[in-house]
Amino acid sequence: MNSFDTRKAFLDFFVSKGHKEVKASSLIPTDESVLFTTAGMQQFKPYFLGEKSPYGNMVTTCQKCMRTSDIDNVGDVNHLTFFEMLGNFTFGQYFKKEAIQYAYEFLIDTLKLPKDRIWITYFKGDKDVEKDEESIKIWKELGISEDRMIGFSREDNFWGPTGNEGPCGPTTEIHYDLTGINCSLGDKCLPNCSCKRYVEIWNLVFNEFYQDKGKKLTPLKQNGVDTGMGLERLCMALQGKTILFETDLFDGIIKEIEKVSGKKYEDFQSSFRIIADHLKSAMFLIEAGILPGKNDREYILRRILRRAIRHAKNIGLKDFNSILEKIFDIYEDIYPEIIAGKERIISVIDEEKLKFEKTLEKGLKEFEKLSFINSEKAFYLYESYGFPIELTIELAKEKNINVDLKEFDDLQKKHQEISRAGAQKKFGGLGIDIVLDEKDRKEMTKLHTATHLLHQALRQILGEEVKQMGSDINPERLRFDFSFKRKLEKEELEKIENLINEKIKEGLEMKKEEMKYEDAIKSGALAFFKEKYPEIVNVYSIGNFSKEICAGPHVDNISELKCVKILKEEAVGVGVRRIKIKLNNC
Ligand code: SER
Repeated sequence: MNSFDTRKAFLDFFVSKGHKEVKASSLIPTDESVLFTTAGMQQFKPYFLGEKSPYGNMVTTCQKCMRTSDIDNVGDVNHLTFFEMLGNFTFGQYFKKEAIQYAYEFLIDTLKLPKDRIWITYFKGDKDVEKDEESIKIWKELGISEDRMIGFSREDNFWGPTGNEGPCGPTTEIHYDLTGINCSLGDKCLPNCSCKRYVEIWNLVFNEFYQDKGKKLTPLKQNGVDTGMGLERLCMALQGKTILFETDLFDGIIKEIEKVSGKKYEDFQSSFRIIADHLKSAMFLIEAGILPGKNDREYILRRILRRAIRHAKNIGLKDFNSILEKIFDIYEDIYPEIIAGKERIISVIDEEKLKFEKTLEKGLKEFEKLSFINSEKAFYLYESYGFPIELTIELAKEKNINVDLKEFDDLQKKHQEISRAGAQKKFGGLGIDIVLDEKDRKEMTKLHTATHLLHQALRQILGEEVKQMGSDINPERLRFDFSFKRKLEKEELEKIENLINEKIKEGLEMKKEEMKYEDAIKSGALAFFKEKYPEIVNVYSIGNFSKEICAGPHVDNISELKCVKILKEEAVGVGVRRIKIKLNNC
């Protein structure tokens, strides 16, 4: 069964069992304590804690996920950074019995996976949480013999929370025996063996507890079920493969890399896999609004892109375009948003490639000159040549040299603090700590309101791929940066200006409401993704025209803006445009 049908079979199965199919959330999570969406349950976290779910109490999703913990392992047979997680979730409606029965029915009856290849793991208990006898009993009733079930401790069979606190609980996992062949451990070759004979395909989490910031567990008011099945792994089992990259989610990409590079996959497996996985992740990260850069998410994107570029160089691969097309082909029907952002995604990748290739050559020469690598030298390569530390480590490994990561981290942190302080000075919005006279303050408040109008007008005229990337206000003008792939036409600028001025004429009120961040997002309020938002946020609406999370301050009625004039539109980077506007003297 191919991946498209598998994804559909899963969602159809759970819809037939009364679950509501919910759209995947963005790779940038609403839960701000984590960098990326790493699991299907994240968008439902509040409902596990008792908040009323707008989707009902049983939902199912196919969630795009990004896990960075394994970046360095990508290249082997079964590690990925981007993957899709199939899940069914309930907030208090059913518990272990139904969850296990559904999983069994879907795998064995619907997908017809051979039962004799299935192994089960369960939580064996510890001083705080007792052994999961109930799951063992349910599996037995379904005909799984006890010698196919193995108990593990917290590390393997207890899940959560994501971030600092949240729902968590014991798990029962379904493992699939890919080869039926013992490794050198003989009979001790069992699920969770490092030999890769078995693959964990489905994790059923029974959310019974809340873990607070101090790691204390308290029982939740209602039990919940959170399951996650790796689509790529399930495809591996269904398509009879032992390597993720040989499933149809990668096969076409690998073949295209062979075609364009003229090299054979079997001779350069690791580079092929890294290129395929990293380009996929990069595409989805850029779609989510991230650009390569120096901090947090931006740095992760830069790091994976640059690693892909270096491996492309290894195999003489010069052009990514047709490879990216293959990736778009795989996902266009599932995630139409990546097609909407296609041109921008391609140009961001191209630009980063050009930039890195230029410095890579110089940097590699510099690297070769060094007789040893310490963290200062690694930092110098990072700062001067944009060498991600991981790249230096990889290169150093080839020369059998260790780099002390801790020291490097300290240097990087120090550097980030300095550049952050600089950035704050440079781009500070209304929060900046300078004394303004009353007149200037009023002008800046108006321009701040104009930011919302402009943001919405851009989205309305150019499309929803427009995302705010930054802004800068002084009493004379507003500078607004946003994601968009090309220069704006004169007519488009006119339309944008006219739309804003029409709204100003309508004299709409600026309304402020306080609400939970998650609710704000759900109500359709725009958020500035780079921002770390508190739990409770202010949402400012201008009639039905615009709704944004924002700290304010704003005018009470937008008629105070009188009129807006666009002064300039220009590029500030690849896929990022800048508009300057002023008020009053139109
Ligand atoms: N949250 C669990 C996981 O990510 C199950 O969905 O594995």
